[in-house]
Order: sequence, then C-alpha cells, then structure tokens
Amino acid sequence: MKHSIFKLVSSLAILFAITSNCKIMGQTSQTDAAIYKKIDEQIKQMTLEEKVGMIHASSSFTSGGVKRLNIPELTMSDGPHGVRIEQGRHWDAGNVHVNDSGTYLPTGVCLASTWNPKLGYAYGSVLGSEANARGKDVILGPGINIIRTPLNGRNFEYQSEDPFLVSKMVVGYIRGVQDQGIAACAKHYLANNQETKRGSINVLMSERALREIYLPGFKAAVTEGGVYAVMGAYNKFRGEWCTENDYLVNKILKKELGFKGVLMSDWGAVHNTMEALWYGTDLEMGTDLGGVKYNKFFLGDTVITLVKKGIVDERLIDEKVKRILYVMYKTHKFDKRPVGSFSTKEHFATAKKVADEGIVLLKNNNNILPLNKNGIKSIALIGVNAARLQSEGGGSSQVRTKYEITPQEGLNRISGGSITISYSPGYEIMRNGTANKQLIDAAVEAAKKADVAIVVGGWAHGYNNYAWRDNAYDAEGTDKPNMDMPFGQNELIEAVVKANPKTIVVLMGGGPIDVSGWVDNIPAIVQAWYPGSEGGNALAEILFGQINPSGKLPMTFPKHLSESPAHALGQYPGDSVNVLYNDDIFVGYRYFDTYKVEPQFAFGHGLSYTKFSYSNMNVVPGNQSATVTLTVTNTGKVAGAEVVQVYVKDDVSTLKRPEKELKGFEKVFLKPGESKKVTIALGKDAFQYYNDIKGQWVLEPGKFTIMVGSSSRDIRATKGIEIR
Ligand code: GLC
Repeated sequence: MKHSIFKLVSSLAILFAITSNCKIMGQTSQTDAAIYKKIDEQIKQMTLEEKVGMIHASSSFTSGGVKRLNIPELTMSDGPHGVRIEQGRHWDAGNVHVNDSGTYLPTGVCLASTWNPKLGYAYGSVLGSEANARGKDVILGPGINIIRTPLNGRNFEYQSEDPFLVSKMVVGYIRGVQDQGIAACAKHYLANNQETKRGSINVLMSERALREIYLPGFKAAVTEGGVYAVMGAYNKFRGEWCTENDYLVNKILKKELGFKGVLMSDWGAVHNTMEALWYGTDLEMGTDLGGVKYNKFFLGDTVITLVKKGIVDERLIDEKVKRILYVMYKTHKFDKRPVGSFSTKEHFATAKKVADEGIVLLKNNNNILPLNKNGIKSIALIGVNAARLQSEGGGSSQVRTKYEITPQEGLNRISGGSITISYSPGYEIMRNGTANKQLIDAAVEAAKKADVAIVVGGWAHGYNNYAWRDNAYDAEGTDKPNMDMPFGQNELIEAVVKANPKTIVVLMGGGPIDVSGWVDNIPAIVQAWYPGSEGGNALAEILFGQINPSGKLPMTFPKHLSESPAHALGQYPGDSVNVLYNDDIFVGYRYFDTYKVEPQFAFGHGLSYTKFSYSNMNVVPGNQSATVTLTVTNTGKVAGAEVVQVYVKDDVSTLKRPEKELKGFEKVFLKPGESKKVTIALGKDAFQYYNDIKGQWVLEPGKFTIMVGSSSRDIRATKGIEIR
C-alpha cells in the first residue's frame, strides 16, 4: 500500500514539475526592455564605490548590494544536485544553525543516464524550489564539462562525453530551476575537464574541438536554456585565464551567443584587475586576498582608483552592474518571489524517479536479474558502499539530506523480512587502502551460505565535509590515480564469485572502472552512480524487478585506461604548464568507433528486463535535413522504456570525421506488445562539421549514413541518404 502511494506521489510530482513548465504563480514577467529601463535609472543613482561594491563578493556566497538604494545582495549556493550544506557568510563560519537537510538528487551522470529531458526539467524544479526555500537566488549548477577522461574527480557532477546529450539534458534542468525564480549557473566555462592542476593548467585545443565538443553544452545552456549565470573556470584556455579571456567570454559567450547574464568567477579564479575588467568577469567570487573579511579584491578598491585616474572608463563597470541587476530582476529580487518548498515528499519522489530511470543494467547473463522474491531465502550483501552515505562527500557539491536510503536499507525494505540479508563490509575505505584478508574471508563465508551474493563497490566520496582527498575517489580538487577499483575490491569480487557463482556486482560512483579482471565471471553488473536520497530504494526495486531499468551510459566504459582517447591520443594531465587536447574531436565513442577500439561497455548501452524490436526505418531527406521514422515494439513480457538513438555518419568529407555522432534520441515507454512510431527530425546541424581551416560550420553535400540503435554499438538499422 505504502509503495503504491509513493509511486502515485512520484508521478504526481513529475507531472506537476513537467506541466508546471511555467513561471511560478504571482510572478510578473517584465519585458527586458522594461527591466533595462529600470536598471539604467538605478545605475544613474549609484556612486562609483557602490557600483564597484556590486562586482565582487560581499561574503563567501553573496555579492554586494547597495543598501542606500534598496538593492539587495545576490545570494548563491552550490551545487548541481542539491542545495549545499549551509556555509553562512564565511567559509569558516562552521556550525550555522539552519535546517539545511534537503533533497539529495542523483548526481549529474545519473540524470544524464536517464536520457529523459523532461526529467531534467523536474530535477531543476526541485533544485530551484529548494534553493528558493533556503533563501538563495542562484544555484551553482549544472556542471556540464565534457567527460574527457575517466580519471576526472568531478565526472560524477557532470553529464556526458557527448555534446548533443549534454545539450539536450541541460536545457530542461536550467528551465526547471529558473521557472522557480532562481538563477541557474552553467559551469565551469570552459574546458575544466580535469582536477589535476586545475588552478593553473593551460588547455590547448583546436577550434574544431572547441566548437564541436566543448562549447555546445554551454551554447545550449545560453541560447536554449536562457541561463542567467555562467561560471568562469579555474584553468587557462589558450594562454589566458578563463575569467580573463576575451575570446571565450566577450567574443563567444556575450557577443556570439548573446549571453545577457553574469559571468561570475569560480571561487578564487580571478588573477588580474585589468584583464578581468576588460576580458569578461562581471562578478569576482571567492578571492582570497585576505578574503571578504578584509574586502580585498582584484575588482575592489583598485578599480575605483583606476576609474578616478581615468585609466578605466566607468561605463565598463556599469556594463557589469547592468548584468548583475538583470539577474536580480529575473530572480524577482525587486518584486515578490513566492517561497519555495524544501525537503518535501514530492521532491524525494522526483529524486527516486531520476534514480529509477538513471541506474544502468550493464550485464544480465541468463536473466539472473530480476531476483525472484519468492525464490530467494538469503542474500549475502557485501561491500562498504552498500551501507555508506555519500551525499556529504565530493567537495563543493556536498549535500546534507533528510535521509539517504543506502542499498542495504533498500534491500531490507523490499525483502520485508522474508529474505535473510547478511552484511559484510568486504573492504575498508581508507587512504591507499589495499585488500583486507580478514574482511574478504568473512565475505566469502557469507557468500557460500547465501542463495545470492550482491557486492556493492565502486568509487567513493570523501565522507565528511572537506574530506575531499582522504579517501575520496570522486571528488573536487583531485583526480583518480587510475581506473583500478580501490581498496582491494577486485580481489574481493574474484573471491566472492568463486564462492557463489550467483554474484551480482553493483558499482557506485561517477564513472568507468577497470572491471576487466572479473567481468567475464560475473553474471550481472549494475551501474548505480550516486543515486541520491532514494537511491537504495530504486536499486532494490530494480534488482527485484519492480522497476524495469532503462538507464543508458552517457559515457564509454573503456576496458583499460590506456585505451581511453585522452590517454591513447591526447595528453593527460599535461605537463606543468599545458595540456594539449590532441585527442581533439575524438572524445569517447567518437574515438572508440572511429579507431575500432572495443569498449568494455559502449556509450548509450543499457539493458532492460524486456526486449525491443526496431522496424520500418525510413529516412526522408529534406533541404539539408532529414526526417527519421521507425517503429519500436516491446516484444517482451514486461513494460519498459527504450532510448532510441540516432547516429549520423558523413560517408565522404574533406576533414576526417567520426565514425558516428549522436544527433537525435527519444525515450519511449511501451507496455508488453505495444508499438510506437518514433519520428526524429535531423536539422542542418546534424550533418555539418566545423571546418577550422575555413573557420565556419560547413555542410558538404553527399552521402550520409543514418543509424538507429539501442546503443552506439547496438545499431539496429541503417539507411544511406544523399544530402544536397
Ligand atoms: C568550487 C567549485 C565550484 C563551486 C565553487 C563554490 O571551487 O569549482 O564548482 O561552485 O567553488 O563553492
């Protein structure tokens, strides 16, 4: 009974979030012209000192206001998958007394694994509503840096290796947040694809790689999502700091893309006054020149002096203040923004829905899954990650939550006492931890006695606040040393499956792990990411078949790190100064498929408990476009969802192009026996590539191959067409 109420709440929550794709009630959506008129009036009344006070932080997470003119501070909070533990006005404020136990949403990679843009909107709605309730104006997310290497410590916060998937998922997220009256902040602009030397590394890439791979997510955030804020990254790009980069910020972001919001720096990412003033930063955050306590900023008193000496034109400051005030109007700082809601059952229901659809079934030999509740009397549950709370780890994206259902709790709930579930840690999470023989022996003994063994392992966050490096393998500020599962988990898995061939492995974490040592001996593998507050329930319901998994990998799982393009073709982490992206556009499956390297699990891969057939594929070419139609049928016995993926190949091109590129997808929900006609439009951009010799997007007429499939490596039908 309880379960069905939860499901009802869950669907109502999604329905509300999706259908309420409108401004929150009571908001007055003024036209931009009206807003700018008011802004001009306000700026005319401001002194130079008051203007400069607005373009840098006034505390750890606020930017300056002007009390005299009733201009409030802008208040911001991390992070991409939940409103962060309260930081108060200074980092070291410590025990700030507020109720900051909110909803811990599944992290970015799990959201992307749903391949469901509508869920992105629901996700953003929760984030916006909870930020609102916590008195924030800006939520510092989504994190949309391309997943270039499996080692990046922040992959868990990001979304994908593919720019098209990022572009589709980011729009819903941003609109969901901003329809709650809160500003989203797309980050980290741009090419912050590693944590190693993030504060100094200079990223070098071709214009083609920039345009085809690293920029599209931010372009979609601005031009389709209408994002109000963008965060300048810590690293350099082609020799200039990202926060002081005329090309990236002034020419591309503000001019070419028409971005009207605020380019705020990452915390402490501004390095020079003149460069930041001229080349892009509107708001300096987190600078530690004595920090906010002593009011020392690059965009602080020095700017006042420069203007008064006539070295800097005051209109340059006005432009920055204008952008900050614009965001204040868009977040209703000058009119009424209804309160949001915090930590509600509807929000947790949305978190569950995202986990339900984001967890990926990677392998399921002989249909060992789903487990039959009546056919099993005992489970040996093994692995620290089965019982571990993750929400507060990982760095700035840490979330304190009202509750976090672990896999152990989820399994105990679903078994309802009818199954004996033993627990053994199997390994220890500790700095440079290795295999622990006693723990492995205990786990083996438990596995021998049980009908089924479930090992829950993978990466792990640092546990307490700021334990980012102590035992963290998925955290800000640090990359993983390699792709090998830490803490002796490989030895554990190999020992357990020897003791019980019915062993299921559940991997938690933000990305690929080298599973080559045991993958062939394990009948079932599930990728659970960091599935949020309701993750344990979602996982348990998937393992027992109450939920049919529909997640698809948003990044390739290589067999070995050396086969990953950033390591096979490109440089990582670079030398002490530069990192050269000579893997170029061949990121992820673009590399594996073009260079014929077999992945462990392919981009877009994810199994279901049912089967889907593809038929009647047709492609009708249009004017530099095409329309793909096909029929998808659920040929199995249970309802399920399939993500139909459309890939395009340019059969003949002047410059080398990838073997395939994702240019369309649709998630279809089908009952047993049900068929649905799917139509996916391919516009001009589905066929173009960026010719950086000519410095423009080009569509070279000729033959193209259109592929439809259940993953980048499970192509079900193809059609050749001529594009004129
Ligand atoms: C951090 C992160 C950024 C975060 C900011 C504020 O260093 O790079 O993602 O939003 O500082 O905590």
